[in-house]
Amino acid sequence: MTFSAQTVVSIDSSVVTDLDPPLQRTPKQVGLPFRVRIARTEEQLQKAIEIRAEAYTRHLPALGETLRTTEHVDLTPDCLVILAESKSDELPVGTMRIQTNFHAPLAMETSIHLPTNFRERPLAAVSRLAVKAGPRGKMVKLALFKAMHRYCIAKQVEWVLIGARPPLEETYLGLDFIDVFPDKNPRPLATAKNLPHRILAFEIATAERRWHEIDHPLYNFMINRFHPDIEIFNSVSNRWLQPRARRAVPGWDGPPLDSPLV
Ligand SMILES: CC(C)(COP(=O)(O)OP(=O)(O)OC[C@H]1O[C@@H](n2cnc3c(N)ncnc32)[C@H](O)[C@@H]1OP(=O)(O)O)[C@@H](O)C(=O)NCCC(=O)NCCS
Repeated sequence: MTFSAQTVVSIDSSVVTDLDPPLQRTPKQVGLPFRVRIARTEEQLQKAIEIRAEAYTRHLPALGETLRTTEHVDLTPDCLVILAESKSDELPVGTMRIQTNFHAPLAMETSIHLPTNFRERPLAAVSRLAVKAGPRGKMVKLALFKAMHRYCIAKQVEWVLIGARPPLEETYLGLDFIDVFPDKNPRPLATAKNLPHRILAFEIATAERRWHEIDHPLYNFMINRFHPDIEIFNSVSNRWLQPRARRAVPGWDGPPLDSPLV
């Protein structure tokens, strides 16, 4: 184990000798074979689109075909796309889109009227969740979910909504999502070729407490472990020297957005 000069100098040596094991210089980290971050460049967005189209085509070829290019909503300011890339070859292994309702209603609200307890509340909708087929898919899915949960805490989102098709709703129910509509009936979503989806919701602020109370098997992964590869806020680290520019974004009619020069 190594110690930085800074740590050694700043700690009284009599205290250090009493500690067993000695203080670590950095927190314990759990590495993942992939990196999760917000797609912030054209190239990263294209990678997300690639894995999105590939995964959907496996199960819903007609929908997958329409997802081969960026969707308008991907480029709106209330929306972000999360990308998971393999660390060994940087190929995309998963993606998820998060849309908040801070400036405009959620895309799913063109198809459903939300019950009153969700109206005028800070909401996010998760869509276009997709992972590469194979044994790593489930881990990627959980890491995307952890990124989403942490992002929503930071953005003060109260509820996350998702439209899930059978049998995929089991994943979300297992994470403690609940039905938005008491009848639990699937509803057609225009954003997914009007296929029926069960509309589920997840309360962000109470998640840690609920998972703790039910001794959820994912509690450690979601709450206790430090995964530096889940790096959703890399863009707000102390990078004052990174040049930024105001750029027009195709399909976006508002003022130019701040983008890093990459
Ligand atoms: C949704 C997804 C991320 C879940 O990943 P995962 O937890 O690793 O689960 P799997 O891919 O093993 O899928 C679980 C089961 O659902 C099925 N399934 C997956 N996507 C499906 C879909 N769109 N429609 C119907 N069934 C689907 C799988 O065939 C599998 O069934 P099986 O257990 O009988 O083999 C992944 O299946 C995926 O990328 N699907 C394509 C994109 C998609 O449909 N997204 C919708 C999210 S609501």
